[in-house]
Amino acid sequence: METQIDYWQAHALLEWQVDLGVTEAIMDAPVNRYELPDHAPKPAKVQAVKDAPVDQGSKLSRTEEGVEVAVQLAKSVVSLEGLREVLAGFDYCDLKRGARNLVFSDGNPKARVMIVGEAPGRDEDIQGKPFVGRSGQLLDKMFAAIGLDRHSPDSEHALYITNPIPWRPPENRDPTPAEIAMLKPFLIRHIELADPEVIVLMGNWACTALLGRAGITRLRGNWQTVLGKPAMPMTHPAYLLRNPIAKRDAWADLLDIQARLKGAS
Ligand code: URA
Repeated sequence: METQIDYWQAHALLEWQVDLGVTEAIMDAPVNRYELPDHAPKPAKVQAVKDAPVDQGSKLSRTEEGVEVAVQLAKSVVSLEGLREVLAGFDYCDLKRGARNLVFSDGNPKARVMIVGEAPGRDEDIQGKPFVGRSGQLLDKMFAAIGLDRHSPDSEHALYITNPIPWRPPENRDPTPAEIAMLKPFLIRHIELADPEVIVLMGNWACTALLGRAGITRLRGNWQTVLGKPAMPMTHPAYLLRNPIAKRDAWADLLDIQARLKGAS
């Protein structure tokens, strides 16, 4: 029998849930996405690479197999669209099962500057785009200050943005070294295909993935080389939101990037 509740009861129940910390109403009952069968159709390329023998003699763990498959898939694509497609069909990373959307990239792929961030949060997971929450708003303001804008059609003034981790980690936890390693071949190919002039390593995970080390407070402000390109490590906007005092150094790094683009640094 259906139970009717009036407006005020419904309102009180909702308020009670908000007090408990509920931030989102999705369904009546929780869904364990880790237990859902994967019905997503696999692009032919993913299936072909998965079916190819990757184990030459020794028994590979699932993670090792995932890395091998990722390397083969990344090598096989010649366009950003192709890369997005193989990543969408890549099943070895469990983060995919807990995420709503693949967060591949945003901005203009022809931009001179490519930003590599960390991982999607709640807002990015919902919209399927990187840096659209509070950190993203600050990131947009930071780069607008040196004349760069992810929405610009002009490559001179544009930005292209991605993350080393394209699926939201549960509870925004840190990605594991195995997850970073498994997804790294896609990130490398992403940079090769976008072919920016300058890379910005936004935060520790970008540094871990592309430099093999973290420690952003020491790394920031010092040009590095990634795939033969100049790469500037910067403190992540989420850190700047918590530590506004660090904005001063971030501004110096932005000016350094601007100077490099003008050919002066
Ligand atoms: N922080 C990141 O590093 N990436 C995003 O996409 C969002 C927040």
